[in-house]
Amino acid sequence: MGQDAFMESFSNTVGGFQCKIYLLLLAGACSGLKVTVPSHTVHGIRGQALYLPVHYGFHTPASDIQIIWLFERLHTMPKYLLGSVNKSVVPDLEYQHKFTMMPPNASLLINPLQFTDEGNYIVKVNIQGNGTLSASQKIQVTVDDPVTKPLVQTQPSSGAVEYVGNLTLTCLVEGGTRLVYQWLKNERPVHTSSTTSFSLQNSTLHIAPVTKEDIGNYSCLVKNPVSEMESDIIMPTIYYGPYGLRVNSDKGLKVGEVFTVDIGEAILFYCSADSYPPNTYSWIRRTDNTTYVIKHGPHLEVASEKVTQKTTDYMCCAYNNVTGRRDEAHFTVIITSIGCKFHVLRQRINVERRDSECSREEVGLRGKIICS
Ligand SMILES: *[C@@H]1O[C@H](CO)[C@@H](O)[C@H](O)[C@H]1NC(C)=O
Ligand SMILES: *[C@@H]1O[C@H](CO)[C@@H](O)[C@H](O)[C@H]1NC(C)=O
Ligand SMILES: *[C@@H]1O[C@H](CO)[C@@H](O)[C@H](O)[C@H]1NC(C)=O
Ligand SMILES: *[C@@H]1O[C@H](CO)[C@@H](O)[C@H](O)[C@H]1NC(C)=O
Ligand SMILES: *[C@@H]1O[C@H](CO)[C@@H](O)[C@H](O)[C@H]1NC(C)=O
Ligand SMILES: *[C@@H]1O[C@H](CO)[C@@H](O)[C@H](O)[C@H]1NC(C)=O
Ligand SMILES: *[C@@H]1O[C@H](CO)[C@@H](O)[C@H](O)[C@H]1NC(C)=O
Ligand SMILES: *[C@@H]1O[C@H](CO)[C@@H](O)[C@H](O)[C@H]1NC(C)=O
Repeated sequence: MGQDAFMESFSNTVGGFQCKIYLLLLAGACSGLKVTVPSHTVHGIRGQALYLPVHYGFHTPASDIQIIWLFERLHTMPKYLLGSVNKSVVPDLEYQHKFTMMPPNASLLINPLQFTDEGNYIVKVNIQGNGTLSASQKIQVTVDDPVTKPLVQTQPSSGAVEYVGNLTLTCLVEGGTRLVYQWLKNERPVHTSSTTSFSLQNSTLHIAPVTKEDIGNYSCLVKNPVSEMESDIIMPTIYYGPYGLRVNSDKGLKVGEVFTVDIGEAILFYCSADSYPPNTYSWIRRTDNTTYVIKHGPHLEVASEKVTQKTTDYMCCAYNNVTGRRDEAHFTVIITSIGCKFHVLRQRINVERRDSECSREEVGLRGKIICS
C-alpha cells in the first residue's frame, strides 16, 4: 500500500519528483546539486585516450566548487587521482601525467589508457555556499585491445562427402581481448543442431556429418566491447548427389517416361542431375534381353529412321565419382507414323538386378498408339 502511494505521487508530481526520489530512496537531503554521467560503463581501448564525461548542476549560490576523482579496483583501497577547487587542480603527483581535468568542467581524461586502469572511477562534487552540497557518480571502465581480422581454417581442406565426412571450421584471431565468437552462414547466425556443434568458446564449428544443406558462405564474426571483425567468406567443399535425375528432349512428345517421335525425325535427349562434382553420364539401350552402353556424356541423339524397332527402352545413368553414388532414369522411345500419339494406360514396375553399369529397374508400359 505504501509503495502504491509512492508510485502515485511519483507519477503525478512531474516537477519536483526528483527531490522526492532522493528523499525516499537515498534518505538524504534534497541537495539541489545533481551530478550525471551519460553512461555508467565506458569501454576503452588500450593505448588510447579515454574521456569520462560528467555533468553537474545546482541552484544555490556557490563560493567554492570542489571536484574529486577516485579510482577503485576490485579488492583494493580507493585511490585519490586528482581534485580541484574552483579552477585550480591538485593532482596526485604519481598520476599527474595520466589524468587531466579542466574545472569547472568535471569530465576526466585518461591518457594513455592501460589494462591496469580498468576499474571504477568515482567523481564527487562539493558545492560550498549556504551550507555544503555533495553528490557523486561511479563509472565502470573496461580496457581492451581491438579485435584483428579473423582467419577461418577448414579441416579437411579438400572438403567432405555428404553423409560420410565431417567438417571443422576454426576461427583464428591474432589480437584482441575478451573475444566473443559467432559463426555466420549466409550472413545469418549458425545455431546448434543434431549435426552442428561449437567448441566451448564458439571458436570452432563442427559439422558431422555434412549434408548438401550445409553448403553456404561461412564467416566468423569476432566481437569484444570495443570492436568487431568478420573473416573473409569461405565456402567449404561438400560433395553430394546425384539428385533429381531427369531426361528431357528437344522435341517429341513426352507422356510419363515415354517419348513419342514421328518417324523420320531425329531427337536429342539430355540427361541432368544435381551433383557436385558434376556427374558422368552414360546411356544404355535395351534390345531384346540385352543391355549395352551406347554413349557417354549428357546428350544422346536418336535418329528414328535408324531405329529398327518401334519401341525401344533407354536408360540414362548418372554417376558421381567422388560420392560413389549413382542414379538412373528409364524412358521409352516410340516411333510412330505422323499424327499418332502414345497414350499410357497403366505402368507396371518390376525391379530386377543386372550386371550393367547401373542397377536396373524395368518399367513395363501398357498403352496404345492412337492415330488421328
Ligand atoms: C572560488 O571562487 C569563489 C567565487 O569566484 C571565491 O569566492 C572563492 O574564494 C574561491 N575559492 C578558492 C579556494 O579560491
Ligand atoms: C567538458 O570538456 C569537454 C572537452 O574538453 C567538452 O566536450 C564538454 O562539452 C565539456 N563539458 C561541459 C559541461 O562544459
Ligand atoms: C540559507 O539556508 C537557510 C536554511 O536552509 C535559509 O533559511 C536561508 O534563506 C538561506 N540563505 C540564502 C542566502 O540562500
Ligand atoms: C565424423 O564424426 C563422427 C562423430 O563425431 C565420427 O564418428 C566419424 O568417425 C567422423 N568421420 C570422419 C570421416 O572423420
Ligand atoms: C556460443 O554460441 C551459441 C549459439 O550461437 C550461444 O548461444 C552461446 O551463448 C555462445 N557461447 C559463448 C561462450 O559465446
Ligand atoms: C555466396 O557467395 C557467392 C559469391 O560472393 C555468391 O555468388 C553466392 O550467391 C553466395 N551464396 C549464398 C547462398 O548466399
Ligand atoms: C571424376 O569426374 C570428373 C568429371 O565429372 C573428372 O574430371 C575427374 O577426373 C573424375 N575423377 C576420377 C577420380 O575419376
Ligand atoms: C527375356 O528374358 C526373360 C526372362 O529373363 C525370358 O522369359 C524371355 O523369354 C526372354 N526374351 C527373349 C526375347 O530372349
